Amino acid sequence: MIFRQLFDAESFTYTYLIGDEQTGQAALIDPVIGKTNEYLVLLEQLRLTLMVVMDTHTHADHITALGALRDKTGCKTMLGQQAVATCVTDNFSAGDRILIGDLRLEVLYTPGHTNDSYSFYLLAGDQPMLFSGDTLLIRGTGRTDFQNGDARQQYHSLFNVLLKFPDRTLVYPGHDYKGWTVSTVGEEKAHNPRLQVTDEQAYVDLMGSLHLPNPAMMDVAVPANQACGVIGD
Ligand code: FE2
Repeated sequence: MIFRQLFDAESFTYTYLIGDEQTGQAALIDPVIGKTNEYLVLLEQLRLTLMVVMDTHTHADHITALGALRDKTGCKTMLGQQAVATCVTDNFSAGDRILIGDLRLEVLYTPGHTNDSYSFYLLAGDQPMLFSGDTLLIRGTGRTDFQNGDARQQYHSLFNVLLKFPDRTLVYPGHDYKGWTVSTVGEEKAHNPRLQVTDEQAYVDLMGSLHLPNPAMMDVAVPANQACGVIGD
C-alpha cells in the first residue's frame, strides 16, 4: 500500500492518500481545494490514478476539493447518504465497502459531529487503521454543537463503533491543531480526556459545556461543500 498523510496548514486538515501498488489505483479522503494541484502532482509522481475522493462529512472549516478533483481527473466523488450535497457521483452508507484496487475501505457510520459523519476502516496487511474524521481526534473529539451535531449520537459512535476496534488500531483524525499525526485506539481510550466519562449523560454534559466559537469559514464553507466545493455568490 502507498499511504500519505497530507496537511493543510490553513485549516489544520489532514488529507489521506491511499494507493494500491498492484493496480495503481488511489483514493483521497478529505481533500482541501487549495491543495488540488499538489495532490495531482503527487499522484503523478507516485504513478497513481485517482479513482475516488470522499469527505468524511460536510466540512465547516475548509472547502473541499471534491469538485475540483472530479473536474481534473474524472474521479468519482462520494459523501455519506445523509449529506445534503447533490453534486456527488455516489453516496456511501454504513456497511458499504469502497474498493481501491485490492484495498478495501469499510464504511462506518459515526454521526455526532454532524449527522453525515463517517469513518473508514482499513486493514493494511495485518495493521488495522481507522480514518476517524472529526468523530475521534487525538486527545479530543469533534464538536457537536452545529450542523445537526448530537453529543448523544457521538457517544455511541465513539464507544460502540470506533473504540470497539483493537487497541493497536492506528487512528488517523481529520484534523489536529497541535501537530499530532497519529494515535491508537488504546492510547485514546486511556488518555483522551473526552473519553474518561462514566456514561452517555456525562459525555453530553461535557460536550454541552464547551461553548466554542463558530469556525471562521463556516458560512462560506458549508454551502460551498454542499456543492462539492463551488463557491456561490
Ligand atoms: Fe468537521
